[in-house]
Amino acid sequence: MNTHRRAASKETDLPALICIGVRSSSGAYNILYGRGLSQGVSELLERTKAGAGGLALAENTGVFLLSSPRVWRHVGRKIMFGLDRTAVRRPILFDDREARKSMATVERLCRQLVWAGADRRAVLVAVGGGVVGDVCGYTAASYLRGVRAVHIPTTLVGQVDSAIGGKTGVNLPEGKNLVGAFYPPKLVIADPDTLATLPNREFRSGIYEVIKYGVIGDARLFSYLEQNVERLASRDQAALDFVIPRCIRAKARIVEQDEREAGLREILNFGHTFAHAFETATAYRRYLHGEAVGWGMIAASRLGVRTAGFSSDESARIERLVRHVGPLPSPPRVSGKRLLEIMGADKKTRGGKFRFVLPLQIGKVKTVADVPPDAVHAVLADLGRPSERNAS
Ligand code: GLY
Repeated sequence: MNTHRRAASKETDLPALICIGVRSSSGAYNILYGRGLSQGVSELLERTKAGAGGLALAENTGVFLLSSPRVWRHVGRKIMFGLDRTAVRRPILFDDREARKSMATVERLCRQLVWAGADRRAVLVAVGGGVVGDVCGYTAASYLRGVRAVHIPTTLVGQVDSAIGGKTGVNLPEGKNLVGAFYPPKLVIADPDTLATLPNREFRSGIYEVIKYGVIGDARLFSYLEQNVERLASRDQAALDFVIPRCIRAKARIVEQDEREAGLREILNFGHTFAHAFETATAYRRYLHGEAVGWGMIAASRLGVRTAGFSSDESARIERLVRHVGPLPSPPRVSGKRLLEIMGADKKTRGGKFRFVLPLQIGKVKTVADVPPDAVHAVLADLGRPSERNAS
């Protein structure tokens, strides 16, 4: 990972930025973080040089914007301001609710790309949150067997997690993200100004993923959040500038070492085995992804206490922080048996054996294979009740 800062430059008018480089199987790419960057997209594309054997982003036959109507309403004007319109096609907009993250949506987008004349030298630019990024990334991976993708994440979840590392895909009724591809982007542009219009619930949903980074490897970040989560929730600039690049760096370090999740990358799934089951069991309608991860982290922490020697005091700290972010939709009213069945179909399950990322201490986790289903069951049965240490 390569990281540097650049101050605002008179030549370019681009604002100060942090640039974090990521090596990937299909070439290195940069993640740019900075206020106002989304208003200079053409210039940023122009400056992105070709990787080994590849084309520079500026060498394209069209820039195709993919977004959702509600995202585009808020950021479309900014994005268009910084785009050279001769190369840009009208945005293709689609419904970005989790329940629409499906093969049907990918098919529709591919057909719209054909109608719009996108060829193999097209560049797809995904503007939006996790669903937009995952769907567009998978569309880019599949369309004409692969066209280049650029991500402009406009949610906190997107900026700290989903736009980085090349995981793309869609849901099936049977399970979350069960179809997809590892398809690293060519550039990621994270502009915290785009978060200003995000509804509070969506912004909070991203905070749970930030907490995840604290638990899996950054005890200092976790303590910072314990002190400052309200500042972060109010989108205080200094808090955003501290938290977002820190999470981006953490993720970049992990995916560079293990792009295809053969080992280390699994730690990013802390809370996610439970979360995916909750989302699937509720047909992707009840929770925003981060909210399901909030519950998933509480469940994984309690499972850690039961099966991995995790301290109940530290588990209570995680639970307190998660609950402090704001109200979560209550746990799904689905039997533990059904949730276990769904977990059995999860990508993370191997040979029918559950794999969970469990905390050992705040800042350190490990993947545990073959967790006893009884322990998982017991955690699920109690999930709606606060832990003893947090009950008062
Ligand atoms: N969001 C988990 C990962 O990218 O691996």
